[in-house]
Amino acid sequence: MDYPVAETGRAVVSCLIKSLVIPRPIAWITSMSAQGCINAASFSFFNMMGDNPPVVAVGFSHRLLRNTAQNIMETGAFVINLVTEETAQVMNWTSLPVPADVNEMEMFGLQARASAHVAPPQIAQAPVSLECSLLETVNTGQEQILMVGRVIALRIEDALIQDAAKDYIKEDAFRPIARMGGSGTYSRTTDTFVMERPVLPQS
Ligand SMILES: Cc1cc2nc3c(=O)[nH]c(=O)nc-3n(C[C@H](O)[C@H](O)[C@H](O)COP(=O)(O)O)c2cc1C
Repeated sequence: MDYPVAETGRAVVSCLIKSLVIPRPIAWITSMSAQGCINAASFSFFNMMGDNPPVVAVGFSHRLLRNTAQNIMETGAFVINLVTEETAQVMNWTSLPVPADVNEMEMFGLQARASAHVAPPQIAQAPVSLECSLLETVNTGQEQILMVGRVIALRIEDALIQDAAKDYIKEDAFRPIARMGGSGTYSRTTDTFVMERPVLPQS
C-alpha cells in the first residue's frame, strides 16, 4: 500500500506513522514560565539529533500547544528528564492537561533538584537529566511545531556510570522506556544485541 500524506486522512497518517517509527524515547520535560511557574510533561516526538554539539529535537502538537512549548518560547530553556521503568506511571500522570499555574511536580510528588545552568529544575527521581537551551523553533505551517535544543549539561546518577571501556553507562541499571505505536503501548530497553560496525579491508 502507498499512502500519499496529502490524500490520506490526518488521523490515519498520524496512527500509521506513530506505529512505524518506534520505539521513541520519551522526553519528560521540565520548564518554567517567565513568571516562575514550573511545568512537567511528557513528549515522545523526541530524540537526540547529534552529539557535537549535543542537540535534541522535540515535536509539539499545535492543537495541544500548551504550557511546555509556551514556557520554552518565553524563557529559551528546558530540561529533558529521561523516563525509566520506575518512573513510567508518574510520567503518564504528568501528561494530564492541567492549567498553566499548576505545578505537576508538586501535584504528583516529584522532587525538584536545582539545575546548574538553566532555571527549570530537574526531576530528582529521573536518573538522567539534560539541561537544554532553545536553538531554533521550526513552524511546519500545520499542526506541528518542532523545537531544537542544544544540550548544555548532562547530569547522570553516579550509580549508572562505569568506565569508558564499557561505554560509560550501565544500561542494565538505567532501564529507560520508550513509546511504541498504539495507545498506551511502551517498550523496555532490556532485549539488546551487539553488532560491531564493519571496516573496509586494508587492501
Ligand atoms: C508518553 C507520552 C508522549 C507524549 N508525546 C507528546 C508529544 O510528542 N507531543 C505533544 O504535543 N504531546 C505529547 N503528549 C501529550 C502531552 O504530554 C500533553 O498534551 C500534556 O498535557 C502537555 O503538557 P503541558 O501543557 O504542560 O505542556 C504525550 C503524552 C504521553 C503520555
